[in-house]
This record gives sequence, structure tokens and C-alpha cells, in this order.
Amino acid sequence: MNIKELVREMTLEEKASLCSGQDFWHTQGLPRLGIPPVMVSDGPHGLRKQADEADHLGLHNSIDAVCFPAACATSASFDRQLMYDMGVVLGKECQAEEVSVLLGPAVNIKRSPLCGRNFEYISEDPCVAGELAAAYINGVQSQGVGTSIKHFAANNQEHQRMYGSSDLSEQALREIYFPAFETAVKKAQPWTVMCSYNRINGVYASEDPWLLTQVLREEWGFKGLVMSDWGAVSDRVKGLAAGMDLEMPGGNGSNDQQIVEAVRSGRLPQEQLDQAVERILNLVFRHGDNRRKESFDREADRQKAADIARQCMVLLKNQQVLPLKQEERVAFIGGFAKTPRYQGGGSSHINAHRVTSPLSLADVYGTIQYAQGFPADRDERISEWEKEALKTAEQAEKIVVFAGLPDSFESEGYDRRHMRLPQCQDQLIQRLTALGKPVVVVLQNGSPVEMPWAEQVQGILEAYLGGETVGEAVMDLLYGKANPCGKLAETFPVKLEDTPSYLNFPGIGHHTRYGEGVFVGYRYYDAKKMPVLFPFGHGLSYTTYRYDNLKISRKVCGPTEGTTVSLEVTNVGRMAGKEVVQLYVADQTGAVARPVQELKGFAGVFLNPGETQTVTMELEPRAFEWFDEENGCWRSNDGVYQLRIGSSSRNILLTGEITRKGNRPPLPVIDEDVQLGELFACEKTAGYTQEKLAGFLKAFTGGEKEETPDEMMLQMVKYMPLRALRSFGGLTNRQISEMVKDLKKLLI
Ligand code: BGC
Repeated sequence: MNIKELVREMTLEEKASLCSGQDFWHTQGLPRLGIPPVMVSDGPHGLRKQADEADHLGLHNSIDAVCFPAACATSASFDRQLMYDMGVVLGKECQAEEVSVLLGPAVNIKRSPLCGRNFEYISEDPCVAGELAAAYINGVQSQGVGTSIKHFAANNQEHQRMYGSSDLSEQALREIYFPAFETAVKKAQPWTVMCSYNRINGVYASEDPWLLTQVLREEWGFKGLVMSDWGAVSDRVKGLAAGMDLEMPGGNGSNDQQIVEAVRSGRLPQEQLDQAVERILNLVFRHGDNRRKESFDREADRQKAADIARQCMVLLKNQQVLPLKQEERVAFIGGFAKTPRYQGGGSSHINAHRVTSPLSLADVYGTIQYAQGFPADRDERISEWEKEALKTAEQAEKIVVFAGLPDSFESEGYDRRHMRLPQCQDQLIQRLTALGKPVVVVLQNGSPVEMPWAEQVQGILEAYLGGETVGEAVMDLLYGKANPCGKLAETFPVKLEDTPSYLNFPGIGHHTRYGEGVFVGYRYYDAKKMPVLFPFGHGLSYTTYRYDNLKISRKVCGPTEGTTVSLEVTNVGRMAGKEVVQLYVADQTGAVARPVQELKGFAGVFLNPGETQTVTMELEPRAFEWFDEENGCWRSNDGVYQLRIGSSSRNILLTGEITRKGNRPPLPVIDEDVQLGELFACEKTAGYTQEKLAGFLKAFTGGEKEETPDEMMLQMVKYMPLRALRSFGGLTNRQISEMVKDLKKLLI
């Protein structure tokens, strides 16, 4: 198919019509030229194909499909292969259902635990978010089906989501909010990128040429098409000019005329429209070229969902209470045992094929008595139920409480109001702990909760939103038929007031100031040396691992060199399991304010009892760099960087270090405002400045009388602009201008 030719054959009106959807889920077709419409559907943790009436709010149902664990859970696997495999299954389902693009993954950074959509986002950390997103995209796309990584960019809350402005520094964008997209583009080339609803520093993401063209295409090399989030278009013409190719949904072509007029009047160059049309046609024909017959085997895919779910739940606490034994008399308390919460609400809501609750499997696993205790769908104390729960618990040897967030507590469209569980749950858990029996809490929620009872219970299993096989996964983990291996991809703070964005969430008026800068998640808690409930990367197992023999391939690195880190991990316990090893880089150079440590690598390893394996992780130069906003570039400093290897961000087991050398600080900008310290620090200007100012320096910093120059005076000189020599150094305007001229020449 010669797409350029096809574009040439189109009328201006036809081109304009292709730039928005035909309806809610299809691109526009053009029968005259044999261009079919193609369908896109929501994901990301299952196929949400709406066959009939379209809406994306969960009001109308989509086809019967397998509901996989949501991203809050799959991220806890820290497992690229798992994400890839899940992508492959979803890609096949899309082929079977003739869907060209699955709308995901969603990779926005979890800036606050209150964001209503955190359950479908991956992490507070850009390294995990990027690596897992790239793996998922590669999996889906290996099946000839596209993805739409979303929501680009800085879409970290639901409050005022279609108009609010995320106001943040370029450094925070580059270091925290962009890298998940950047990594995915560079490692997986998603067929499409979905731009977000919000504005960034006052400019709609859907109209921002810097974001959609300069950064995304020119810097990162994105080749696909950009589509709008559903209804994210304000000025369609501005959007096209910025690089936003496809407006979704269609809006009955109401913007077509604007596009036509803009081209006629010269406001929109014809080539820009042609380019958008070309990209849309590329997608349409790519779908056609990759079509093949597939069948959607729901039961088989369900098994895969269960395998995944077992690897996503996080054992947060275990004081010799788990695993449960079949013969133990156990009380299951809480509505979530019977009516589990296994996915979130909104556009990602899947019409799940067959949901199993933990309680429905009770007979298979053990000797279990159930009492509801509290409802799963609201915060209401029902004293009859509580009494019954306490009675049931009294007769048991161990108590397992199934707690969690009701659907209405977290959803797309609005943010959480607080970080607590419903009061009825906290209160009953506390009363149950007073019975003096071992208590385990199983949590079903999409984002961290406060746990005022954490000290009093003996076990906590974070099941997150585990998909439709939540029952199998939870029961296998509770009864030790599977070994927990999930790790938190987000920090669980002690309380909401501790969170880095607390004072700036959800913002004032139409603006949200990201005042914490790059200090998001553990980067903040570590910098403030704060206690947390459970740290980033934390997750227990029924076995124990030993880390030894750290090796670093290159210990002195030039500015463009990375290094390879390897270590041995041994399973010294009695049960097979998977360990996730984490590698943090800690900048010790002190050159600029940096987070204490940042995750720059991770790897999972499956080990039988007694087995040892070598784990290897690569560190690219970027792992040591920070974004220098003033000079618009990535930089690293000369000096020592510690490499910390741990089983969580707060359980570092091995450390080594490397030294970076040969980094050149940016040249000073020479004008009358340049500070003398900058001239002394630059090797090209130091000698000249020293010579020219010798007399002044002597006099100003203590002259010949003093042995050692006065520290205060030295510092004053360091931060003194050249122009100040008029006042303090007796130089004339002419002399200063001449110095500026000379210094400029030295830098050429
Ligand atoms: C959501 C997207 C979703 C789209 C289509 C929007 O409201 O933000 O994530 O893909 O709707 O349902």
C-alpha cells in the first residue's frame, strides 16, 4: 500500500474527516479509497471491547473477557517476562476480536496515594514504570496488535482532570514523569501514544508542540501516531499543528470544518495535515497487514491470569502466622472474602468472565468458618454482623480478615478523600485483635491505606486488585501452595500527612503545583529520613535468600560509560521461590541536591531450595545523570556513586561503588552578570581571570597581611558578578566590557 499516494488522492475534506474517530471506538473509514475503519478498545488489564452501545464509564457492558490483575498488582511482580506474557495473551484476544489497538498501558507516576486512578498506574518510580510498560507493549505488539501508552503527560490526579494544569519544573518532568514514556518509546515503539486531558504549565497536553513533537518524536524517536484521550481536544487546529494526529472519539466530525478552513487560510500548513493523515493510515493498514485468525480461549487465559495473580500479591508482614495449615480451624471475616474487589472502576472496567472468591474455595483448602462482619461495598457498622464475627473468631485458632476499599472509595473520575479504610473495617479489626488470637489481614485495594492496627496483627497480605482469579491466588498464598514474591512498587506511608504532595494536592483553583519536585515517593521519605509503614520494594517470602559476591565490571567510568553489576543469590530456605533484587544508585558527589538513592535496575530470579544463581543488571550512563534545567541537558558529576543492592529500598544487603571521571561542567554564560566563581571554575577562563583580578583579589580577601584569606571574603568573591567590580574593584565600565569580550573569545 502506497500511503503517500493515497493521501495525494484525497480531497481536503476527506483528509480532515480522517483526523477524528467515526464513533466512540472506530477510526473513520473512507470507502471511496478502500480505507476501512479500525477498532480500538480499552485495556489494559483485559479486553474491554464494547460491541454495541458505546460508553466508557462502565454503564454499558463490554464483551465477556478475562480480567487480569490491575497494574497496581502486576507492577508488584517487578517482572518484565510476566508483563510480556500477559501482553501476548491480550494481543491474541485482540486479534480474535478484531481490535487494532489496546488502550494501555497507563504509566502515570503515583504522585499521591489519593489519585483515584492509581490502581491502574504502575509505580511511584519511573524505572519500574518504564521497564514494565515496555515489556507489556512488546508482548501485545508481538501479536500484531498496537498499544496506546497513556496518559502523556503529568496526569497524576483526577480532580479537574480535563482542565487542571499540572505546574512543574522541566527537571521533574524529565526525571520523574517522562521516563516511563521515554523508556517505552525507546524500547518498544508503541503504535500509538495517548495524550492526556490536563494542561502542563498552562498548555493543554493535546496542543503542546514541545511535548508531542519536540520531545516525543525528535528527541525520543517516536514513530507512531498520537491520539487524544477521549474528549481531550480543546483547539483542534492547534492540536494538529502540535502533532496530535487523531481526535477521539469522533464528535460527529464537528471539527472537520475548522481543519479545512485552517488549511485554506494558511493557519495550518497542508503538510502538517498530510502528515497526521499518513500516520493514521499507517495504523489502519498496519492492522490490516497483521490480521490473522485467533480464538479467544477464556478458560485457558484465565489460568494465565491466575499464574500472574500469584506473583503479584505482597506479603507485608508475617510473624510466624502464615502459611496456614489445612487442619487449622480458621475464621474468615469480612465481606471481601465472599465479594472480592478485583478491579477498579471506569474505563478499564472489564466484564469479567468468571470471578472466584476466596470463600468459594474454602472447602478445598481448609477448615474455614465465615462471618461477614462488615459489608464490602460501603462504610456501615452493623452490630449484629460484628457480634457474629467475634463469635466465629472466638471459636477459631486463627483469624483472617478480608478488608479493602469499596468501589466507591477509588475510581477513575475523582480522587480519594483520605487514605483510610472504611471505619467499620478498622474498628472490627481492632476488636478482633483484642481476642488474643493470631490475626492476618488480606487487603483488596488499588492504592495504599493507613493501617492503625498494623502493630497488633501478625500477618498482612496485600492482594491489591488481583483480577478475576483473586480467589485462587489468595488461597494459594495463604495456604502456602504458592510462595509470595511481590514487592511494593510504591511506598506505604504511615499517614496521609506524611506524603510528599500533601500540601499541594489536589491544588488551588485550576493549578496543581508539584512543589516536591523530583522528591516523589521513596525519594522524599528517604531524603527526610522518615519512618514509613512499608517501604518501596518491600515484600516477604516463605523462604529466605542470601546475597553474596557483588561484582562491578567497571569501577571508573567516563561520562559515556555504564557498568555491569552482578551478584549471587541463594535460596537458603525450604521452599522454592522468586526473589526480586533491586539496585539503587546513591550519588555521593554532593555536587547538587539529589535523592538519597534511586532505583536504576531490578531483576527477578527463581530459585529452588539450596540453589544459587547469578543475577546481572546493567547500568547505562543515564543511571547517574540528572536533568540540568538551566542548561537544558542531562549531566552527571565527577565523583563517587554508591551502588546499593537490596531486597527493598530499606533493606540494603550489599554495597559497592564506582567513580565517574571526566565530566565537564557546562561553560559559563559570559556577560556582565557572570559570577567570578564560575570563571575560576572553568579551566578556559580561570587563568585569565586570576591574572586580571590579581590585585583586587589580594586586597579584597585579606591582602598581604593575612596568611590565609578570609573565608567570608572568598565566598563573597565567588558569588560576585563581574559587574560588581565597578563597586568593589575600582574597574570602569569600559574595562568590564573588555573583559567580557576577552572571556567570550576564550570560550570559542
Ligand atoms: C480515559 C482513558 C480511556 C478512554 C477511553 C478516558 O476517559 O482517561 O484512559 O482509554 O477514556 O475509554
